[in-house]
Amino acid sequence: MNFCDSERLMALLEKEGFCAVNSLQDAQFIIVNTCSVRKHAEDRAINFLRSNINLKRKGKIFCLIGCTANLYGKELLERFDFIDVICGPNRYKELPEVLSNIKNGEKIVLTGEVENPFIDEIKNNMDVSSLISITKGCENFCSYCVVPYTRGKLVSKPAKKIIEEVKKLVERGVKEVILLGQNVNEYGKDTGENFVDLVEKIHDIEGIVRIGFLTSHPKDVPEKLLYLFRDLPKLYKHFHLPLQSGSDRILKLMNRRYTISHYLGIVEKVREIVPNISITSDIIVGFPGEKEEDFMETYKIVERIKFDDLFVFKYSPRPKTKASKLPDDVPKKEKERRHSLILNLQDKISLEKNKAYEGKIENVFIRKSSYKREGYLVGRTETEKPVILQGEENLKGKVLKVRIIEGFRHYLYGKLCENNK
Ligand code: 5AD
Ligand code: SF4
Repeated sequence: MNFCDSERLMALLEKEGFCAVNSLQDAQFIIVNTCSVRKHAEDRAINFLRSNINLKRKGKIFCLIGCTANLYGKELLERFDFIDVICGPNRYKELPEVLSNIKNGEKIVLTGEVENPFIDEIKNNMDVSSLISITKGCENFCSYCVVPYTRGKLVSKPAKKIIEEVKKLVERGVKEVILLGQNVNEYGKDTGENFVDLVEKIHDIEGIVRIGFLTSHPKDVPEKLLYLFRDLPKLYKHFHLPLQSGSDRILKLMNRRYTISHYLGIVEKVREIVPNISITSDIIVGFPGEKEEDFMETYKIVERIKFDDLFVFKYSPRPKTKASKLPDDVPKKEKERRHSLILNLQDKISLEKNKAYEGKIENVFIRKSSYKREGYLVGRTETEKPVILQGEENLKGKVLKVRIIEGFRHYLYGKLCENNK
């Protein structure tokens, strides 16, 4: 979400005459986009600015934007005097004007909500893949989560507007769109539209070859959505469905509003419809009051479901949330133990799942060049698994037949088949 916001803000700033530079030394404004979801992310962002404090002497303006900015507002200016501008995620549109007029020593705070928080500008030089925010904000108030306090209430971008944007992206060379929202299944709750219709409409757009989306909340998954994975060939057969915990008692405390049996029902159904679908999830370990038995339930369910991949987080108390009023009573060491137990288990499962691809021929969408290995490309299978393969840059944006040579923990290694056109 932040990556997507940063790209749009860049496009907006460029339109207003600003330009990106390659080093902090050359910059007039240093803008850091922040995440508040765990404390660690917040600390890193602020420490990044603090560690460059010497640049302040050269008159550079430090801007802290994003969730952390909105969460603490002007308090941040009092605590960290090196920050000049605070701007929450709903008010980026005002930044170009503010930065154009800011005077040395002036402090500015832009927080809170606005009617239309979306930035319409799109960069000219797009990659073949683009993220699009279809909703902003969230009103689910999962008890551990800070997002409702940082991004505010749910606002959906009208479908007509999204379709126009996707068409514009296609004109700029985009072939793949990933639809983003805190809970995409609630898309249109505020406007009378709905997510399934939106995906179908995007699927009809000529020039788009792949569509992905995240994130889905298990309490809001309609059966119709599961059939889309089977019926829409451009849609990745990949479902990111955060579980958070395997214990009904903890799920209740988390205010997730579903039970394990409901979750298992979705997994069973979607696997019945699309047997090879890739399912990924998020888990939090060490939520307040999580006993060994609760944790073991999570462990067992991870063992049983066999996710393709899993993001495991140690619970981090966040300001304003309900859970932060409960004692953070799982000791750090114990959180770490639970974290690594699940990770080790998932390592084995993911490796096994990826090994099962060996020898298969997959239709791989080529997304980008590899940053790490020159001459290599990164693509995605129809199940959105990352594939590394050797190939020329001009293959980007194509769907190619690739033979999977080896499956690793985090990716597949493949070779282009000779019969590609
Ligand atoms: N502590 C730890 N993990 C969290 N997440 C959200 N809030 C917290 C928190 N306070 C995790 C959830 C969510 C993912 C994006 O981040 O698992 O799905
Ligand atoms: Fe946070 Fe829950 Fe909303 Fe996701 S659905 S953003 S976890 S409050």
